[in-house]
Amino acid sequence: MTISQAPAPYRVSSRLDETHDTVTLTLEPAGEPIADFRPGQFTMLYAFGIGEIPVSVSGRAGPQALAQTIRAVGAVTNALCAMPAGQVIGVRGPFGTTWDEADAAGRDLLLVAGGIGLAPLRPALLAALSERQHYRRVILLIGARSPAELVFARELDAWRESGAEVMVTVDRADASWQGNVGVVTQLIGRTGLDPPHTTALICGPEVMMRLTARSLLAVGMSAASIRLSLERNMQCGVAECGHCQLGPLLLCRDGPVVSYQIAEPLLATREL
Ligand SMILES: Cc1cc2nc3c(=O)[nH]c(=O)nc-3n(C[C@H](O)[C@H](O)[C@H](O)COP(=O)(O)OP(=O)(O)OC[C@H]3O[C@@H](n4cnc5c(N)ncnc54)[C@H](O)[C@@H]3O)c2cc1C
Ligand code: FES
Repeated sequence: MTISQAPAPYRVSSRLDETHDTVTLTLEPAGEPIADFRPGQFTMLYAFGIGEIPVSVSGRAGPQALAQTIRAVGAVTNALCAMPAGQVIGVRGPFGTTWDEADAAGRDLLLVAGGIGLAPLRPALLAALSERQHYRRVILLIGARSPAELVFARELDAWRESGAEVMVTVDRADASWQGNVGVVTQLIGRTGLDPPHTTALICGPEVMMRLTARSLLAVGMSAASIRLSLERNMQCGVAECGHCQLGPLLLCRDGPVVSYQIAEPLLATREL
């Protein structure tokens, strides 16, 4: 296998702890930048000497700077989450399909996030809020395991002020939590959804995405108006190695964002 694109050097210019195990890195080009990304796309981040992994872009942090939000679960994510400002990593991409949130212009845009799934959705949310007048409603439902595991908590008020309807629920409350407790699908009934005129974007653990999609179908949404972001192990990022295959799809090229119409029969046969 040949990898068609050499990693571009990017410097960690700042880091922000989101939770005890999740960090948002701001990455500035230290040479030629990669092409601009669109919401939903991912890059391959290379921690030199350790390995390379796919990570969704969670935002634009400057004219050419990327925000990428990483949860430490293994060798490469641990190394990236521990990186101090000034360190250089390799970046390839951007790769993959996009949320295409602009297709929902004139309709209601519903975003449903589970845990760190809010990171890939954030650029679509910010794009919609920057053109808020084009959408009837922008609704964001967030589920987190606990209040301490809520990412981007500091931004929720600003999103509300920009015209998003934001509802948050946690699986386990602590003494300080005044909000909803329960799974994110329980919030759907409280949104006053207008199913035929809604486009839904879902990102989170696969079981959460499937249950959310089924709840939306049950209230009358069509599978074609539901999109989700699928994760599989990736290596090349450019449809050459086959590592990311799911049925007929190569998710680095045909995903990660896929219509539920296409994803549903594939998810039924495979569970992470
Ligand atoms: C398109 C795409 C976008 C992604 N975006 C993000 C992101 O924005 N932020 C982020 O933190 N992570 C994201 N991931 C997941 C990230 O790539 C993995 O967590 C990473 O590859 C783990 O590498 P590691 O060397 O740290 O851990 P490993 O040692 O490879 O794995 C550690 C543990 O994590 C599990 N694991 C590995 N990969 C995944 C995965 N894709 N999903 C669930 N469990 C996994 C392994 O089974 C193992 O139990 C994304 C993955 C894909 C495919
Ligand atoms: S990661 Fe190699 S084909 Fe998709």
